[in-house]
Amino acid sequence: MCGIIASTGEAASLNDLVEGLARLEYRGYDSAGVAVTREDGTMDRIRAVDGTASLKLLAELANDKSDGYIAGLGHTRWATHGRVTTDNAHPHFDCTGGLGVVHNGIVENFRELKNELEGSGHVFSSQTDTEVIAHLLEDYLKDGAILKDAVAASMSRLRGAMSFVALDANYPSVLVATKRMAPLVVGSGSHVNFVASDIPAILGKADTFYQVGDDQVVVVSPDGISLSDLFGNPMELAEIEVQWDLEAAARGGFRDFMSKEIFEQPAAVRDTLLGRLNQEGEIVLDEMRLDPDELRKINKIFIVGCGTSYHAGMVAKYAIEHWTRIPVELDISSEFRYRDPVLDKETLVIGVSQSGETLDTMAAMSEAAKLGAKTLVVSNVMGSSMARAADAVLYTRAGPEIGVAATKTHTAQIAALLLMALYLAQVRHSLDPHEVARVFSDMVMLPEKIQKVLTSDASIEEVAQAMVGVKRFYFIGRHVGYPVALEGALKLKEISYLPAEGYPAGELKHGPIAMIDADAVVFGMATRTRLWEKTISNVEEVRVRGAQIILVANEGDSESAALGDAIFEVPETHPLLAPVLDVIPLQLFAYHLAVSLGNDVDRPRNLAKTVTVE
Ligand code: F6R
Repeated sequence: MCGIIASTGEAASLNDLVEGLARLEYRGYDSAGVAVTREDGTMDRIRAVDGTASLKLLAELANDKSDGYIAGLGHTRWATHGRVTTDNAHPHFDCTGGLGVVHNGIVENFRELKNELEGSGHVFSSQTDTEVIAHLLEDYLKDGAILKDAVAASMSRLRGAMSFVALDANYPSVLVATKRMAPLVVGSGSHVNFVASDIPAILGKADTFYQVGDDQVVVVSPDGISLSDLFGNPMELAEIEVQWDLEAAARGGFRDFMSKEIFEQPAAVRDTLLGRLNQEGEIVLDEMRLDPDELRKINKIFIVGCGTSYHAGMVAKYAIEHWTRIPVELDISSEFRYRDPVLDKETLVIGVSQSGETLDTMAAMSEAAKLGAKTLVVSNVMGSSMARAADAVLYTRAGPEIGVAATKTHTAQIAALLLMALYLAQVRHSLDPHEVARVFSDMVMLPEKIQKVLTSDASIEEVAQAMVGVKRFYFIGRHVGYPVALEGALKLKEISYLPAEGYPAGELKHGPIAMIDADAVVFGMATRTRLWEKTISNVEEVRVRGAQIILVANEGDSESAALGDAIFEVPETHPLLAPVLDVIPLQLFAYHLAVSLGNDVDRPRNLAKTVTVE
């Protein structure tokens, strides 16, 4: 989620670094920083907080200070560990101040490494997980290792998905980088070589691009690029063919941000879950500022949110009630604040808002605080207004979302809320610790399963194209399939502008079924839960009235498949986690139908990404 760029070579400059960072701003903009080595063997660092402002400051300094530049590291941060402060901004240094590191991702075992390093005398100057890398490298260098071997040895001790680049002032032109399940590319230009988290950062500056594989170490110097595995065995450099212009590159080669973000969901969910389980197998939610004792006293929960965030909250209601037995009420934010809700200091109000700035949710949360309740916000934006104002915060780590229709932030919200539900069950002892660990291990499998769902993109596109001309869509589901139905309908409305309604499947015959005829298309959420048979009966009821049926069903479920005109398959998972998978075919369907209709999916008409009016 953070952006990285580093350069070395005769033609390398601080200006290029800062320009690259500006292009990477979409990966995070809480703070930015650069560290450069100079001809005199020194290393300078400039860091600043506050997104765009920090980049402007860096640009000004770059103009003043670019003389004597040998090599440099640049970073734009999307905070995960440690608040948005200058001290937490990258690059991070070792104790000597002569070794710098920029890092993207999460060091899951940073606490234990930090304890060990502090125990042996290292002094930390930030709260980040990144800083352990600098101090680990320092130890290996002190023992006589060269930087390449120090990076390999450190990487084998680090757990989690990440990439990092290191620069040692003693060898001022040599960059060493490595990665695991996080993006990293190497670029070569005329008298300049680069390492970057993303191609856009170095597009137009490098002419040839190379891949770095997981657990490989790349050494980039003015004279060349060499690649090896963590044991030092040389590896072949593989070139990447890049035919993008700058604008296309920001979209990572995708047609638009919405499709890019749909495909980023495995990473969004994986990053949201990273580092949340300690070695004892307990859930840890570091940034939550609520004391377990306070959480034990909670006797009622309200969840508030708007649109897609409200739907994520609805999934959480089922999970919290099931796992903790605390009663949960769910409210649309704009309704909550005017309905005179009954709250007290033993009530927890959870606000779900990816932006953390939606006025209705913000007002609902401040109303809750005024009435004496505890407040917790689930947000994707570090330091957002709601995150600052609430008693507690839980961040989703989906990275910036640019498409107006929320996709990756939605699945990350569900993941974060389910984590929170498990955490509550853990501190209140309402769920056996083995069951908590078992559900968490099912959650950890979700990114891989999402990836599998995404492989159906082309077949979903075909179904969507065949639906051009359909005038009305209905989505039905039971239990957690109901919020999925609502979200499927909302996605379709937002970007295709067609009437689409979501209903609890059991409610159809109380009115809505009157609208069903041969012109209707009905989506049924038919994964195998204990309510599958009942949902299927409701599907039958609309099928016999002539509607076309599309089912979201489990892989290989021939009984469900026999009932649908089309089937969107998803892998099996724990029933309460199913919405994370089941919603994805619906996002893809809405996307492809809207594209087929010629609509601008990133900027749908009449909508804004963040609604700051009532
Ligand atoms: C739908 C969508 C909106 C938002 C809603 C709340 O795709 O994006 O429905 O979910 O406006 O926004 P946040 O989560 O920022 O409070």
